[in-house]
Amino acid sequence: MPESRLPREFPGGRLRRLHPQDLAAFQAYRAIPELGRYQGWSPMSDEEARRFIEAVHRAPLFEPGQWVQLGIAEAVTDALLGDIGLYLSADGSAGEIGFTLQPAAQGRGLATAAVREALRLFFAATDAGSVQGITDERNGPSIRLLERVGFAFVERRQVVFKDEPCTERVYTLPRPGG
Ligand SMILES: CC(C)(COP(=O)(O)OP(=O)(O)OC[C@H]1O[C@@H](n2cnc3c(N)ncnc32)[C@H](O)[C@@H]1OP(=O)(O)O)[C@@H](O)C(=O)NCCC(=O)NCCS
Repeated sequence: MPESRLPREFPGGRLRRLHPQDLAAFQAYRAIPELGRYQGWSPMSDEEARRFIEAVHRAPLFEPGQWVQLGIAEAVTDALLGDIGLYLSADGSAGEIGFTLQPAAQGRGLATAAVREALRLFFAATDAGSVQGITDERNGPSIRLLERVGFAFVERRQVVFKDEPCTERVYTLPRPGG
């Protein structure tokens, strides 16, 4: 996929590759326990985070069977505010999305706009017929974001996540016009 498809501007921000200068900002928000509570990731050491950012900085976008992480950056300063993970299934037929925004940037619609932009990119760059969003039932901001973007509720699932029984809500967004 041509690299020219990133960065992508949206009102108030920019979707772009993570790069090594993001390390401090990335570590600052990923260390906040509430931000990772319902997420698949756990805080990393600085060295692990440095290697992770280095790897996703160059990773091809949307390889079957792989996650790739994109940065949400502030429009004027380009400072990293959060990130979006996108996964393409091994057979290329479906995607999954996850998103994180640092607390000081929340409540302004930035994550919603960034997720919309990431989905436009994902559907343009792949043949996936839909994207799934999976979130804990207690995660109100995440549920509201998915519904704002147009994801439809599919089902509830009982799972054990981070050693705790919990209820997940599964959402799906079909390819626009598909
Ligand atoms: C999920 C998460 C990204 C949502 O953050 P957020 O700030 O609520 O989302 P947005 O930036 O899109 O802002 C939307 C909020 O701003 C409000 N808002 C204000 N101005 C707005 C605008 N111009 N456009 C849209 N929303 C606006 C909305 O009403 C909404 O608040 P509400 O949900 O209370 O109604 C954030 O809570 C987070 O990082 N959580 C931890 C990580 C996580 O659990 N991720 C989900 C797992 S997949």
